[in-house]
Amino acid sequence: MKTQRMYNELAGYYDLIYSWKEYEKEAAIIHKLIRKYKKSPGNELLDVACGTGNHLRYLKKHYKVSGLDLSGEKLKIAKRKLPQVPFYLANMMSFDLQRRFDSITCLFSSIAYVKTLTNFKKTLDTFSRHLKPGGVVIIEPFLPPHKFYSGKPFADLVDEPDIKICRMNVSKRRGNTAILDFHFLIATKQGVRKVRDMHELGLFDRQKVLTIFKKYDFKAKFIKQGFTNERGLFVAVKNY
Ligand SMILES: C[S@@+](CC[C@H](N)C(=O)[O-])C[C@H]1O[C@@H](n2cnc3c(N)ncnc32)[C@H](O)[C@@H]1O
Repeated sequence: MKTQRMYNELAGYYDLIYSWKEYEKEAAIIHKLIRKYKKSPGNELLDVACGTGNHLRYLKKHYKVSGLDLSGEKLKIAKRKLPQVPFYLANMMSFDLQRRFDSITCLFSSIAYVKTLTNFKKTLDTFSRHLKPGGVVIIEPFLPPHKFYSGKPFADLVDEPDIKICRMNVSKRRGNTAILDFHFLIATKQGVRKVRDMHELGLFDRQKVLTIFKKYDFKAKFIKQGFTNERGLFVAVKNY
């Protein structure tokens, strides 16, 4: 799959590009929410779409953690950071780990990669099959349809002694799909490379997401003040 190859190729630059992200602070917010909402007695946590394992580095202080992602290259990086942690290479829509967790997290808008609400239903069904009664799901969504604007330019810069990266895109949308068409310029001692990396993310209406949670037997709420006010967090407890 072409998209998968591109994710893999750029996986090595992920932590450099997102070095500004406050993973420790975000993990502390997740821990607080789990303590408040979780009703099951255990402490097994699965981070779905865990990427390079940055939240797990901090969550593992409090939980028996596992990670899952569709990118084998990102998981290789995660395994180097956390050699004792089990990682699963799988699709969040359809994985089957034959075990249940007390908490499932899916952060930094990874859920939007499933693109449609129909796929979101499949994903939630998969999460539900992997949760104990009273277990909690925390999802950091992408933007809802009314908050995503086309034609906005973005740029990120990595300025390290041995590598410079400039990543730029101009936001576009097709219906309720956001198109992030990233253009990279990557300078190393070998020279400057140009890479293009296209991501398509679903723009999900928050009310519709809450209705789907209810249909799948979760008690859910949207918390506006999540990691950022823009994206917020969904917190849902599986009925018990
Ligand atoms: C924006 S990154 C977030 C990674 C990590 N949670 C973080 O906060 O740094 C999105 C992640 O979703 C993963 N991903 C995309 N589609 C997926 C799918 N269908 N199943 C599992 N992981 C997926 C990508 O490989 C990538 O690691």
